[in-house]
Amino acid sequence: MRWSETCLSEQLGIDPGKELQQLYLRILRQDPALTLDPPVLATEPAAVKHNLPAQVTSFNGRDWEMIEVREMITEHRLVTLVGGGGVGKSRLAVEVAQNVLDDFPDGVWLVELPPLVQPGITAQSLAKALSLGEHPIVPLEEVIEDRLKRKKRS
Ligand SMILES: Nc1ncnc2c1ncn2[C@@H]1O[C@H](COP(=O)(O)OP(=O)(O)OP(=O)(O)O)[C@@H](O)[C@H]1O
Ligand SMILES: [Mg+2]
Repeated sequence: MRWSETCLSEQLGIDPGKELQQLYLRILRQDPALTLDPPVLATEPAAVKHNLPAQVTSFNGRDWEMIEVREMITEHRLVTLVGGGGVGKSRLAVEVAQNVLDDFPDGVWLVELPPLVQPGITAQSLAKALSLGEHPIVPLEEVIEDRLKRKKRS
């Protein structure tokens, strides 16, 4: 205030106006109304818990298979669905995954593995699905392992 008063007086030859004087007094009195509210930070988006595709068609039948696969993934770390092309292996897997979301507080992730002719990019596909980037020193497989071993199921 003193500085602006000096500037106004010396450079323009005028005195500070009434509003500026009142503001100066309010600052001296530490008027609480002048306190700025802390900025409202954007709320953190809810943690994404899966990347399962939304289905555009309803799921029919397969009641028994749903129960069976659900039980199997509870008991085993790796479960493979086999069957002829187009019989519904992927759809069944995704439907089960949707149904067990609550059992996995860290989420459930679909990884579309590349064709077997490109086995070298399996780790990249996994990392991409899990939103993991390459580390300058640590091999990608270890980065994935480190992330996954901290995930849990309820
Ligand atoms: N139970 C079901 N109810 C409704 N649609 C289904 C069901 N099972 C499969 N489908 C549909 O049939 C099509 C083929 O299913 P899906 O892709 O799961 O077969 P797949 O066995 O994984 O085939 P591929 O061997 O080519 O990988 C998809 O459009 C899928 O949505
Ligand atoms: Mg499939």
